[in-house]
Amino acid sequence: MEAYMSRPTGTALMEKLVSLCKRRGFVYPASEIYGGLNGFWDYGPLGSQLKNNLRDRWWHDMVECPPIGPDGNVLDIVGVDSSIIQNPKAWVASGHVGGFSDPMVDCRATKRRYRADHILVWRPREGADVHPSYAFMEGNPDGPLKKMKKALRGAAPETLFEKAAYVDLDETQRATVIGPDTQEAGSLTEPRAFNLMFKTYVGATGGEDNVAYLRPETAQGIFLNYKNVLDTTRVKMPFGIAQIGKAFRNEVTPRNYIFRSREFEQMEMEFFCPPHEAKKWFEFWTQWRLNWWKSLGIREENLILRKHDQDELAHYAKEGEGTYDIEYAYPFSGGGFGELEGVAHRANFDLSQHQSHSGTKLEYFDQESRERYLPHVIEPASGLTRGVLVLLIEAYDVDESRPSPELMRFNPKMAPIKCAVFPLVRKDGLPEIAERLYMNLRQHHTTQFDVKQSIGKRYARMDEAGTPWCFTVDKDTVETQTVTARDRDTGEQQRVAIDKVLPFLDEQIRKA
Ligand code: GAP
Repeated sequence: MEAYMSRPTGTALMEKLVSLCKRRGFVYPASEIYGGLNGFWDYGPLGSQLKNNLRDRWWHDMVECPPIGPDGNVLDIVGVDSSIIQNPKAWVASGHVGGFSDPMVDCRATKRRYRADHILVWRPREGADVHPSYAFMEGNPDGPLKKMKKALRGAAPETLFEKAAYVDLDETQRATVIGPDTQEAGSLTEPRAFNLMFKTYVGATGGEDNVAYLRPETAQGIFLNYKNVLDTTRVKMPFGIAQIGKAFRNEVTPRNYIFRSREFEQMEMEFFCPPHEAKKWFEFWTQWRLNWWKSLGIREENLILRKHDQDELAHYAKEGEGTYDIEYAYPFSGGGFGELEGVAHRANFDLSQHQSHSGTKLEYFDQESRERYLPHVIEPASGLTRGVLVLLIEAYDVDESRPSPELMRFNPKMAPIKCAVFPLVRKDGLPEIAERLYMNLRQHHTTQFDVKQSIGKRYARMDEAGTPWCFTVDKDTVETQTVTARDRDTGEQQRVAIDKVLPFLDEQIRKA
């Protein structure tokens, strides 16, 4: 892996990256000509290709060629593609109608709204020996504030919080809360629960009886089809069902570019197993998923595993052994880490909820042990669009020695364009030779043909797009039947026989 040259860090890095992504067609603000829409993004030609590459790699490694399990057997994982809108009873059963909320506060002074757990900073009065969560204990200590309390505990403000509000204790140790965008004390309201599901209406009448929800996770579409898959395929315990698709959350404060948006994509797999095996599979999948991200070329030091504390767990993970987060060192995490993927032990929470709410038996009869049980579930759940952000951050670099210094060092397997073909000049038959090479390569890999401007400018365009190889047809090609192959990362060139370009490229991608 190439070392970074002289790329910026933190906010400066994000600014540069966002600008390159807009300029080169990776990511655009949605509805830009109407001023955009907060929390929504569109993926341009390079971004959609990059996203598809990540999606296809996940599907290949999880469904088409799933891993070998700890006991040496190839795992059985199948795919589904379920509706985004399901019967709303499903979301009551899953706990999302009742409990899928974030704590929200309003600022009376500025009329702004914030997620409480993102803005509150604990600043104890000197010498005060009080638990940080005390500030809001008088509200509802068991409600949505739990998340906030967790965030407050032992927090280093500059690493955990994107905006700061201050919690001071006065003489009677009651909280004085100051909103992040005001100087007035007591400007923030008590936190209230805000349900994150987008509501819509099915059919023409539009009454409350027709309320439906856009799915906030792809996982439930898997649980709803668990019985169908069992009845119509030959899967046997343990087995997995995977799905990739859109999910929607009406986030209180979407932020950090595509990290937290209101429409995003997930790649989720529910692994069903006998209850006594769940712990083994939980450990297996946590490690395997961490290594999978590393296999995409993400630097080891930028990834960590973190186990959730008990009071941080989602409602579905409480029955099981908890959740591990695979976290990445985002430039906006202030030197810390933020979530990329969660691996949750959901026990039989979802199947037992759907069994009791739907009245349909979802138990599994194990032919070998002659036992009937509700399987337990291990769930690796990752964000596809958040994964794209990680690939973009990892790839961005600045090499001041180049005339156009910005480049994207994508792993060749993930690169949106795998190679480009250039004729050095537009004469002497070079364009015709180059076009023949292009017509061959494009059948195997995403390939661009470019004849415009100087060769230096063409290389620079490909560096920004993150294209690992450029093949140039020059006047020696006519005599030697070779082309120059230029390496994006080093800028070095070597000559490759024109009829060996395809195997050369295959090999470079294979070993990346
Ligand atoms: N089925 C479990 C589940 O949905 P989650 O931790 O809420 O768990 C899984 O979401 C992954 O989906 C996260 O690790 C993250 O990568 C991605 N994700 C969640 N909310 C997101 C958002 N608002 N924007 C982008 N990605 C999001």
